[in-house]
Amino acid sequence: MLSNEFTVLGMSEGCISMILDILESNNQFPKIRIVNDLRISPKKEYLRESFIIDQITEFENIDGDFIIGASKPQAKMEIMDLYKRVPLSNFVKLISSKCDISNTTVLGNGSIVNSMTCIAAHTKIKDFVFINRGCTIGHHTVINNYVTLNPAVNIAGNVTVGESTLIGMGTNIIDGINIGSNSIIGAGSVVTKDIPDGVIAYGSPCKIIRANEA
Ligand SMILES: CC(C)(COP(=O)(O)OP(=O)(O)OC[C@H]1O[C@@H](n2cnc3c(N)ncnc32)[C@H](O)[C@@H]1OP(=O)(O)O)[C@@H](O)C(=O)NCCC(=O)NCCS
Repeated sequence: MLSNEFTVLGMSEGCISMILDILESNNQFPKIRIVNDLRISPKKEYLRESFIIDQITEFENIDGDFIIGASKPQAKMEIMDLYKRVPLSNFVKLISSKCDISNTTVLGNGSIVNSMTCIAAHTKIKDFVFINRGCTIGHHTVINNYVTLNPAVNIAGNVTVGESTLIGMGTNIIDGINIGSNSIIGAGSVVTKDIPDGVIAYGSPCKIIRANEA
């Protein structure tokens, strides 16, 4: 259950939409304050009337619940670097009530799971992992810190996704694959072989295209 004070650190349009969708579908309407000193200006239409939203650029009070308001792995890491003073335990797990998650799944702090996602048994989803709409994650799969799964990603069993990697929408990853850290898998890829750290890879079958300089 969320406390009455809910702080979103940073703000990208896609991410704030995802957060508000989940809160609404869970019938949760906390008072939200947005810390927006990354100079990302939200468009007004994303700020729905059902929420009382207060935009600030700095804050003292680190009590209450926190979530990161940006979806790209690098942005999430930058935000956490800026706000190291907020304890990990204050970051909530935001899970849409329209998901099917195994009781044996371990989900880390600050992670978000959007609607229509299914997560199978004995999976480990670590901290600050964002899983967008309609993903499936197979048994014994491990998703490391700061990973982002864009919509409709299908991951088979026994897969590992390394820290801060982004998986593009509609990607399929077959059983037992290891994907490295800080890589990007392009939309619509079919990953049939391991992918190393720090690369951009895409296609069916997925091939390394170049180094990921980010
Ligand atoms: C892979 C990605 C990060 C960009 O890679 P990039 O190399 O910078 O891509 P570019 O836009 O410079 O395109 C270079 C070429 O690769 C192709 N390409 C780009 N992404 C591709 C993909 N996912 N699959 C196949 N080909 C792709 C382009 O068509 C272009 O081909 P061309 O040279 O024949 O014209 C991006 O295309 C992507 O897939 N991002 C994820 C998008 C996503 O999931 N969005 C959902 C948000 S919720």
